[in-house]
Order: sequence, then structure tokens, then C-alpha cells
Amino acid sequence: MEQKEIIVAEHLKKSYGEGEALFYALNDVSIKVYENEFLVILGGSGSGKSTLLNMLGGMDKVESGSILVNGQDITKYNNKQLTLYRRDDIGFVYQFFNLINELTVFQNVTLAPKSGRNKERAMKLLKSVGLADKKDKFPRQLSGGQQQRVAIARALNKDSNILLCDEPTGALDDVSGKQVLKLISKLHKEGKTIVFVTHTKEIAQMADRIITMKNGKVVKTTINEHPVEADEVEW
Ligand SMILES: Nc1ncnc2c1ncn2[C@@H]1O[C@H](COP(=O)(O)OP(=O)(O)OP(=O)(O)O)[C@@H](O)[C@H]1O
Ligand SMILES: [Mg+2]
Repeated sequence: MEQKEIIVAEHLKKSYGEGEALFYALNDVSIKVYENEFLVILGGSGSGKSTLLNMLGGMDKVESGSILVNGQDITKYNNKQLTLYRRDDIGFVYQFFNLINELTVFQNVTLAPKSGRNKERAMKLLKSVGLADKKDKFPRQLSGGQQQRVAIARALNKDSNILLCDEPTGALDDVSGKQVLKLISKLHKEGKTIVFVTHTKEIAQMADRIITMKNGKVVKTTINEHPVEADEVEW
């Protein structure tokens, strides 16, 4: 089956420091993401995973290289275009949830623009992540796993096809982590394209494809013929 490329990133570089301290967080990274795949980016701490994901999400500037998303090079976007891209085209889920503590669950989810303000739609999303009954609670009144599910509902409250997840189970215990994995897997089966960053090999077994990073480089790309279900993952 011919797979459609949804993201094509080529020769990405990002460095910090200068002179003898010059160091590449990304050192000539090229990756493709195919439509509706579950892609895991696997690598140890400091290997460049978040740097790469932030670039794909338009949250960090590249030094050189290109990132085509549906054929448009987002590295050429001006600030206004980038803001729209982040707002409308990409869902992002962070390790530490990034909810706004002063807003309720419902208000956090409806922060998204346009259709995102639709109350019925937001309630439907909260139901789909199993949190309809928590809609008027504040983040501090929820467990970590529940907060992460709110963050996922927020990310889904746009019509973006691409969901970028940066270690979304990193701050969770096994039970909550598994709920989040199940939810992401369900979204994948419903047609979302998932790019999932983790340092956990066991979680990577859920992916259709695994890109391994080390020292700012891609060192391996593996096709996973038999992705495991979230239920079967132990870590
Ligand atoms: N603003 C910055 N200034 C200097 N160095 C940075 C900066 N941001 C990231 N780095 C360095 O770039 C490298 C890659 O960082 P990155 O956050 O992408 O790693 P990571 O693979 O996501 O690691 P982790 O699994 O710990 O989250 C690290 O060595 C980090 O120290
Ligand atoms: Mg990281």
C-alpha cells in the first residue's frame, strides 16, 4: 500500500553554545511521518527527541533544514503563520500536562479556537476521555492521569490530524500511564497520525515504526510488524 507522507523533515540542525562548547542537539536529522501511522521516537535523555518534536510542532526554530507538512515548508513561515499552524494544525501533549491551573477542566478544553469553543463538542471530548463528571474541577483536584487526559482532550479540540506527544506517560504511574496509552492508541485507530516521544522501549512496541535517536542523530529506523496493544505493554 502506498503511504502518504504527511511530514517530511530534512537535514535538521540545531546547536547550542559556540567555540569549543558548540554542541548539536540535532545533527542532520531527516525523518518522514506517514499519514495515520503511530510513530515512536525513541532515545535516551538528551538525545534530541524533544528538540525534534518541538520543531515539528512549530515551537522552535530550525537552524537549517526543511520541514514539509502536507507539502508546506513550515520553516519558511512567518510568526503569524506559525501561530496559526500551532493553533489549528497540530495537537501537542506534554510530559507535564501544561494545563492552566486557574481554569476548570472544561475551560482548559475550550481554550482552543473556533470550533473549540463549541460546548457540546467539548463535552463529547471530555466524555471520550472519561472525564465528563470532572468538568468543573480545577487541575489541582485531579490525579496526574486525569490531568493528562484533559490535556489530550484539549489537544483534540481542534481538527488537526497530527498529534505530537512528548513523553506523555513520563510523569504518571503505571495505571494512569496505561489509560493514557489506551486513549492515544484509540485515537490512532480512529485515524490520527501519532508522533510519540519516549525513552521507554516497551512503550515503543506499540508503534508501527520506531525511529531511534542518539546524540542528536537518527541511528535506526525499524518497522514494527506486530505492534502490541496498550494493555500488553509493561514498563
Ligand atoms: N535551550 C537549551 N540550551 C542549551 N542546551 C539545550 C537547550 N535545550 C536543549 N539543550 C540540549 O540539547 C540536548 C537535547 O535536548 P532534548 O531536550 O531534545 O533531549 P531529549 O531527548 O528530549 O531528552 P529527555 O529524554 O531528557 O527529555 C540536551 O543535551 C540538552 O541539554
Ligand atoms: Mg525531552
